[in-house]
Amino acid sequence: MKIEENKSLHPYHTFHLDIRVKYFTEAKSVDELKEIINSEIFKSNSHLILGGGSNVLFTKDFEGLVVKLSLPGVQVQKESQDEVIIKVGAGVVWHELVMHSVAKGWGGIENLSLIPGTVGAAPMQNIGAYGVEIKDVFRSLEAIEIETGKTRTFSKDECEFGYRESVFKKAVKEKFIITSVTFALQKEAKVNTTYGAIDETLASWNIQEPTIADVSKAVIYIRQSKLPNPDEIGNAGSFFKNPTISGEAYERLRTEYSDMPGYPQEDGAMKVPAGWLIEKDGWKGKTIGQIGVHKNQALVLVNYGNGSGHDIWELAQQIQASVKKRFGIELSAEVNIV
Ligand code: FAD
Ligand code: EPU
Repeated sequence: MKIEENKSLHPYHTFHLDIRVKYFTEAKSVDELKEIINSEIFKSNSHLILGGGSNVLFTKDFEGLVVKLSLPGVQVQKESQDEVIIKVGAGVVWHELVMHSVAKGWGGIENLSLIPGTVGAAPMQNIGAYGVEIKDVFRSLEAIEIETGKTRTFSKDECEFGYRESVFKKAVKEKFIITSVTFALQKEAKVNTTYGAIDETLASWNIQEPTIADVSKAVIYIRQSKLPNPDEIGNAGSFFKNPTISGEAYERLRTEYSDMPGYPQEDGAMKVPAGWLIEKDGWKGKTIGQIGVHKNQALVLVNYGNGSGHDIWELAQQIQASVKKRFGIELSAEVNIV
C-alpha cells in the first residue's frame, strides 16, 4: 500500500480544480482495498472513495485520505442464447465497458455511451441517459462494509434505485465501498431510439434498422454536440437534478411561461428540465472570472482553467436561490459536494 502526501487532485476529477489532498492511495485489487480499510491511516482520517471524479465538486483542499478505486476485470458469469451475465470490477471505465459490450453484440447499455466515470460509481446515482438507466440491466453488486470489512451482496431491490438515487446516497451513505457490479445484457437486443434526438440522428444518417452500434454512435454524436468535454473545459455534467413539481404547480407556471417544457410522471407530477429554468432565469453562458454556466447547456457549471471549487459552489447556490425566487422551484445538486 503506497501512500502519497500533499498530492494535487487536478488530474483525478473532471472539474480539474487544483485541489490538494493530505493523503492519496490507489486500490488495484480487493485485497489491497481491504488492507487500506484496515490501516491506521484510513481509520484515523476522514476518507473519500474516488472513481473517475466525474460527479464530485471539491470546495476546498481535502484534509484526509482519498482512495482511488482501480479494481479491474470483466468476467462472463453465465451465457445463454439470449442473455449474458457479466461481473465487472468497480474500477473499470464505464464507457470502455459500453464499447466492449457493443463490440460483443451485448445490448442494453448502448444508450449510456460516453458517460464518464467508473462502473463502481454507476449504481450510486443509477446513471441514466437517453431513456435508459443502469437499473434496467442491473442484477446485483458486491460491496465492502467499511465498519466491519465484510463483503455484502446487494440485490436490485436492496439498491432502491430511483432517478439519480440509490440506497448508497441515503440509508447507507458512505458506509459501503462497491467493488463489483453484475449486469444482465441481451444478445438479441431491441434498440431503444425514441428518446431525444436518437431517431432524428439515425434518420439523418439514412439508417432504418439500427443496430446497438448505430445507437451508440448516435448517442455519442448527440452528447458531443451538447456537452462540454471535461478534458477541454472542467465540468461534472448536469450540476443539478431535473426537479419534479405537482401537476397543479406546473399548470400555474404555464399560465406565465407557456413554453415551459414538462415530462408527465406516473403519479401526475411533472418533471421540468432544470436547464430550461436556469436559462429562462438568465444564467446561461454567464462567466464570472474563471468559472461559469456553459453557453450551450445551462445545467452544466464549468471551470475554464483556474477556477475555485468554492466559487463554483457559491455560483450554484446563487442559481438555486434565483430559480427558487422566480419559479418557486427548489433545485437540488446532482453533483456530490465535498
Ligand atoms: P466519482 O465522481 O469518482 O464519485 C461519485 C460519488 O460516488 C462520490 O461520492 C464517491 O465517493 C462515490 N463513489 C465512487 N465510486 C464508489 C464506489 N466504488 N463505492 C462507493 N462509493 C463510490 N451521469 C448520468 O447519470 N448521466 C449522464 O448522462 C451523465 N453525463 C455526464 C457528462 C459529463 C461530461 C460528466 C463530467 C458527468 C456526467 N454524469 C452523468 C455524471 C457522472 O459521469 C456519473 O455520476 C458517474 O457515475 C460518476 O462516476 P465516477 O467514477 O466519476 O464517480
Ligand atoms: N434546456 C434548455 N436550456 C438549456 C438546457 C436544456 O432550455 O440550456 C431544456 C430543453 O428544453 C431541452 C430540455 O431542457 O429539451 C432537456 O435537455 P437535455 O436533453 O439536454 O437533457 P437534460 O435534462 O439537460 C438530462 C440528464 C443528463 C442526460 C440527458 C440525456 C439530468 C440532471 N440530466 O439532461 O445527464 O445525459 O438528460 O438523457 O437528469 C448528468 O446527469 O450529468 C447528465 C448529463
